[in-house]
Amino acid sequence: MAEQKSIHGLWRSRWLFILAATGSAVGLGNIWKFPYITGENGGGAFVLVYLACICVIGIPVMIAEVTLGRLGRQSPINTMHALVKDQNAAKFWGGIGWMGAVSGFLILSFYSVIAGWSLAYIFRMAGGAFDGATAQSVGTIFGDLLGNPEALLGWHTIFMVLTIGIVARGVNKGLERSISILMPLLFLILVVLLGYSMSTEGFGAAFNFLFSFDFSKITAESIVVALGHAFFTLSLGMGAIMAYGAYMPKSASVGKTVLTVAFLDTLIALVAGLVIFPIVFSNGLEAGAGPGLLFQTLPLAFSQMPAGTVFGTLFFLLVAFAALSSAISLGEPVVAWAVESKGMSRVAAATWIGIVIWLLGVGTILSFNLWADFKIFGRTIFDNLDFLTANILLPLGGLLIAIFVGWVMHKQDVADEVKMESPFMYNVWRFLVKFVAPVAVAIVLINGLI
Ligand code: TRP
Repeated sequence: MAEQKSIHGLWRSRWLFILAATGSAVGLGNIWKFPYITGENGGGAFVLVYLACICVIGIPVMIAEVTLGRLGRQSPINTMHALVKDQNAAKFWGGIGWMGAVSGFLILSFYSVIAGWSLAYIFRMAGGAFDGATAQSVGTIFGDLLGNPEALLGWHTIFMVLTIGIVARGVNKGLERSISILMPLLFLILVVLLGYSMSTEGFGAAFNFLFSFDFSKITAESIVVALGHAFFTLSLGMGAIMAYGAYMPKSASVGKTVLTVAFLDTLIALVAGLVIFPIVFSNGLEAGAGPGLLFQTLPLAFSQMPAGTVFGTLFFLLVAFAALSSAISLGEPVVAWAVESKGMSRVAAATWIGIVIWLLGVGTILSFNLWADFKIFGRTIFDNLDFLTANILLPLGGLLIAIFVGWVMHKQDVADEVKMESPFMYNVWRFLVKFVAPVAVAIVLINGLI
């Protein structure tokens, strides 16, 4: 395809792309979701399946997604249209862009509600609500928050306004600078917490829980969840990384860049697990406690640490920030499309799209209180949104992306854009994208859903 230009600007360097993509990847998925689904799915063997999915499916698909974005240099919807034309492919493949837009709406609608919990916790922490906390009092405070739909709506609204505000200003001016300070700080606090966790009596049990592989605990559903989470945590399968790839300078190496992002993302998830589970085991809490795990364990740890109030407040502030830098990547693809194709200003596009997503979020809020007993397929609205997006739509999006890049596009066009220095690594990648990723995802999806 002839060289394209992005109307939304470019990242100023390869490092800024890494920063932005890491900001997208590292979020609630690492700190909130990974520990709790690991707890629900029995620990070690689940972690191993998750790591395998990252390596043989996630990383290759991420390279494919960045490549598509950089070739098209537009929103995922328009990039896919342009590539379909350029490659003489069937119109069907344009659906990758549209499906991604739907996934983005649905994910952001619940993501914002959970991010709202972390906003609420900044103030609970700072106000000393957890001084002298016990396992029981922490549970009560969390339960009270979930039982209060007005409060949840308020925090959800604040988070959506922040997200829209940043997307409306464009990514360059919005986040680029702050991420480079706040992400390392978040990591630093996690490491401090890790030091604390290592000193608790539950550390050995937690380590065993995470890293000893008991395959009898693996079920078809837990494999679906591990695969889905690999997509979720790397922000794959809906166009977020494609959109960010569209703003990536030509000179940067796709392969090395993606490896860096995936490494940082995985490291942060594992450290979060090593922080949270020792607290679970030392305090006789339930590893399978579900979505509240993070919010019921860390306040306990902070209440026992010197200067815990300060650390705790800062921690939840940084979690909210990590969530924000992920949320903007969920909004960006559709906003970029509305700017390109509907002639809207960025501000108008971000506002309208934000309002629709905000409304959808109400379904998630009510899942935790008034509608907690309203179940479809045995799941609340929140559980259904989470399952449908992470475990079905994202892997399906990734499957289609892998097939499009591996089988539909002209081989030379792909090779020219990916441009890996080592022919061996290139062949490994090509094999994974052509065969391993599509076959593995297809088997897991078909098995898991039946
Ligand atoms: N990866 C982010 C997290 O782990 C969430 C996220 C951001 C995402 N953009 C995405 C998930 C796109 C799926 C698709 O918190």
